[in-house]
Amino acid sequence: MGSLMVNIDHVATLREARGINYPEPVYAAGIAEMAGASGIIVHLREDRRHIKDRDVRLLREVVRTKLNLEMAATPEMVQIATNIKPDMVTLVPEKRQELTTEGGLDVVGQSGKLRKTVESLRSAGIFVSLFIDPSEEQLVASQKIHADMIEIHTGTYSDAVNEKIKEEELKKIARSAMRAKELGLGVNAGHGLHYHNVKEVAAIREIDELSIGHSIIARAVFVGLDMAVRSMIELINQ
Ligand code: PXP
Repeated sequence: MGSLMVNIDHVATLREARGINYPEPVYAAGIAEMAGASGIIVHLREDRRHIKDRDVRLLREVVRTKLNLEMAATPEMVQIATNIKPDMVTLVPEKRQELTTEGGLDVVGQSGKLRKTVESLRSAGIFVSLFIDPSEEQLVASQKIHADMIEIHTGTYSDAVNEKIKEEELKKIARSAMRAKELGLGVNAGHGLHYHNVKEVAAIREIDELSIGHSIIARAVFVGLDMAVRSMIELINQ
C-alpha cells in the first residue's frame, strides 16, 4: 500500500491560461496536505509553462510534508534545486513540444550525464529519484549511478487500450517494483493514474508512494480539492 503525493502543476496551468495571479498553487498545497497527501510535487519546466521559480520558492517555505521537485537534468535546474533545496528531486526527460512527460529517462544511454546530476543533488542533501520505464536495464543503471529511488512510469499501463495490454503492463510494474527493492532502491510510481485505474497499482506492496496530478485536479474542479484528494487516498488504501 502506498501513500499519495499530489502534483499541483495544473493549478498553475489554470493561472497561466489567463496570465494572472490566481489560482494560487501554494493554497492547493496546503489543502492537499490537510486532506492527507504525503507530499507535494511540482514540475519546473524549462519553458516555465505552468510552475514558475517563485512557486517553488514559496512552496519550499510552506510545504510541511515533503516537496518533490520534478525537473530535467540540466545545469540550470540543478542550480535552482541546490539553492531552493526541495526534499527530493525527480529527474524526468523533457521535450519542449510535449503536452506531458512522455516515457521514462534513458539512464542506460545517458548514465554519464545523469550520474553527475545525481551526485550534485545528493551532495546538496537532496534525495534523488529517477523516472524510468519498468525495465530491468534501467533499474540496474539507476542503482549504478547511485539514485536513492526510482519512479516507475505507469503511462503505458494507464493508456492501455485493452485488458490484455493493461494486465501485461501491470505485471511489468509489479516485477520492477520488486526488483527495485532487491537493488535497495525506494519505489514510487505515477503518470496517468486516475480514480478508475489506481487500485491495481496501489495494491503492489513494494510501491512506497504514488505521484498523481491531472486526475485529482480535474476532479477538484467539480468536488473541491479536499474531497478529490481524500477520495484518491481512500481508493489507494482499499
Ligand atoms: N510522474 C511524473 C514523473 C510526471 O512527469 C507526471 C506529470 O507531471 C506525473 C507523475 C503525474 O502524472 P498525471 O498528471 O498524469 O497524474
